[in-house]
Amino acid sequence: MSSEQLVEQLKAHLRARIGCRDDDIRVVCSPLRVSPLGAHVDHQDGLVTGMALDQAIYLAFVPRTDARVRVTSLNFEGCADFTLDAIPPMAPRDWGNYARGAALALVQSHAIGLGLDAVVMGTMPIGGLSSSAAVGVAYLLALESANGLMVTPQENIELDRYVENTYLGLRNGVLDQSVILLSDRDCLTFLDCRTMAVQRIPTEASRDEYEILVVYSGIRKALVGTAYNNRVAECQEAAQLLLTWSGHPATNGNCRLRLVAPDVYAHLGDRLPAPLDRRARHFFTELERVRQGVEAWRVGDMGRMGELMRASGASSVHDYESGSPHLTSLYEILSECPGVYGARFSGAGFRGSCIALSHPAYREEIEAYIADHYPSKHPDIADWYSVHFCHTSEAARLIA
Ligand code: GLA
Repeated sequence: MSSEQLVEQLKAHLRARIGCRDDDIRVVCSPLRVSPLGAHVDHQDGLVTGMALDQAIYLAFVPRTDARVRVTSLNFEGCADFTLDAIPPMAPRDWGNYARGAALALVQSHAIGLGLDAVVMGTMPIGGLSSSAAVGVAYLLALESANGLMVTPQENIELDRYVENTYLGLRNGVLDQSVILLSDRDCLTFLDCRTMAVQRIPTEASRDEYEILVVYSGIRKALVGTAYNNRVAECQEAAQLLLTWSGHPATNGNCRLRLVAPDVYAHLGDRLPAPLDRRARHFFTELERVRQGVEAWRVGDMGRMGELMRASGASSVHDYESGSPHLTSLYEILSECPGVYGARFSGAGFRGSCIALSHPAYREEIEAYIADHYPSKHPDIADWYSVHFCHTSEAARLIA
């Protein structure tokens, strides 16, 4: 289905539900994201890269004249229904959390009183493309529009961070919402998570030399409840030890590996006990891959970019240990696949998707190769996995 058809479907749903006119309906497009390099370093204030995809969460809405918020979804059952003056706490495994969390973030920082009637839908299977940050950002933009608020992307990054870190309790970094809010078509977004300095880097490669391949593994599972938070804690423990050994002043519990100077790590890294030594090695080698990847992208060297992605994937498997059997198989299959420059887990890598940079001329071979190798290894997902060829797109925005 094209995005125009999808938006029409959402509008028709809203018209039927609340009897509004077409002119009253506004639409937010909030893209899904990939991160070619910079795996699991954002929560340590590291360097990350990302791209917004031409696959998105769409939210059609009509502002209300009272404080009620009513959202339905074309992907999930039920209705998120609450008022801005009494926002309920987080309810485990409920898709309505993102609407409630976004509303709470805004209510606490701005004098807003107008709710909305809305319907939401995503274009891709959920998992690894950060649909959670995309949907959180979509609610923020919709509520801001309904209340006539002008909010910068930087402030929206912080608001969505509140949704994920505080309302939902996931200790993740700023990669997802930053890429969703700061990216641009045909560019690699390069973000320093310590300073929040951002660059949108064009490439000398032409569009017919690369595309973004997303392979959904067929495995879905929320990040809250995976080893995600445990890995964050291990990184912080490694940082704490290295900082203490090097005589760094106390950080008041705000320890991040980025605070550790590379030469301190070079001298003292060997003293870290397992598995903290592996977590720190992942961090420092990934930072270097990001730096090199940005240059490879700039000059259009997709082969080099792919090599770095493959090395990032290997580091995620062996040093960060974030894979799962399905994702690790997919990573290995894609790394051998003709037409693929390089692959790695998308996002956290505990479930969801693998991404790759691939050559557009090889689409059929790639699909056939995956079909030949993946379902035979994991028959349980034979009917669930899917292959998507994507392109970059703009940041989250109102499109109607
Ligand atoms: C998830 C988190 C991000 C980031 C990635 C791994 O997508 O939400 O903050 O840590 O995993 O790079």
